[in-house]
Amino acid sequence: MNQNPAPREFTTAAGIRAWVTAQRAGGSRIGFVPTMGFLHEGHLRLVDAARAVSDVVVMSIFVNPLQFGPTEDLARYPRDLSRDRSLAAGRGVDALFLPDVSVMYPPGSDTRVVPGPAADVWEGAARPGHFSGVLTVVAKLFHLVSPDVAVFGQKDAQQVALIRRMVRDLDWPVALVVAPTAREPDGLALSSRNTYLSPADRRDAVGLSAALRAAHDAWREGETDGRRLEAVARRALEVYPGVRPEYISAVEPDALAPAEIVGAGYLMLVAARVGSTRLIDNVVFGEGIP
Ligand code: PAF
Repeated sequence: MNQNPAPREFTTAAGIRAWVTAQRAGGSRIGFVPTMGFLHEGHLRLVDAARAVSDVVVMSIFVNPLQFGPTEDLARYPRDLSRDRSLAAGRGVDALFLPDVSVMYPPGSDTRVVPGPAADVWEGAARPGHFSGVLTVVAKLFHLVSPDVAVFGQKDAQQVALIRRMVRDLDWPVALVVAPTAREPDGLALSSRNTYLSPADRRDAVGLSAALRAAHDAWREGETDGRRLEAVARRALEVYPGVRPEYISAVEPDALAPAEIVGAGYLMLVAARVGSTRLIDNVVFGEGIP
């Protein structure tokens, strides 16, 4: 049975600000987990990571229209607020911030955060404007919640790299914690979009993590050439006929530029379509995939 009290809920900017201000005045360190809801174990581990370094944990749930392109899945993005509420309570979230679009983007609000060129490659090339939408909402949420620590998942490696740059470039007084990707037992990275996968897609979807694992194994055995590691991953992916890769690349961890020689801390990024679902995953060289 859930022993935790239900999280406080706020839907307005004034409400969340007043609560956070009171918590801070009482000496609490504020941890923050921004989400788009439809929570899964991956989000809940971000809560655990926030809890480990803060006294109170705020989670936001907001499906941010700015980060969806015109042909993307905003309308069908999965939502289940009552389930999210009970999962958040079960994991000890202290406050839920549940703004609607009119709170985040009142009529006439048209200022955007414009990321640098690291937003134009990989996911940014496939989804023009996506990272401006992500950084704009994260900037607004940081202003509203003013966290001491914010936690993001490694699964969205490019998002993490760009948020890290924004925080550094704009001198934001927030510490970032990056939590490892949570996975199914067979390796599939947890994602709200996994709910779109048919049973056959689900069997093929494991190909992404299998390909990353193959590349990581080759690296551990001494292969450090970026192109050759990509070839290892591509070959591993061929075993999964339903997976249509969009990119597979070994990159350095800051600007995510392709890496000639791959060292510890570098990444391999993969994006692929499985059926009608677009999935992404990555591995950090040196950390691997369990
Ligand atoms: O990673 C996500 O769920 C979203 O991109 C985020 C950071 C909550 C911004 O909408």
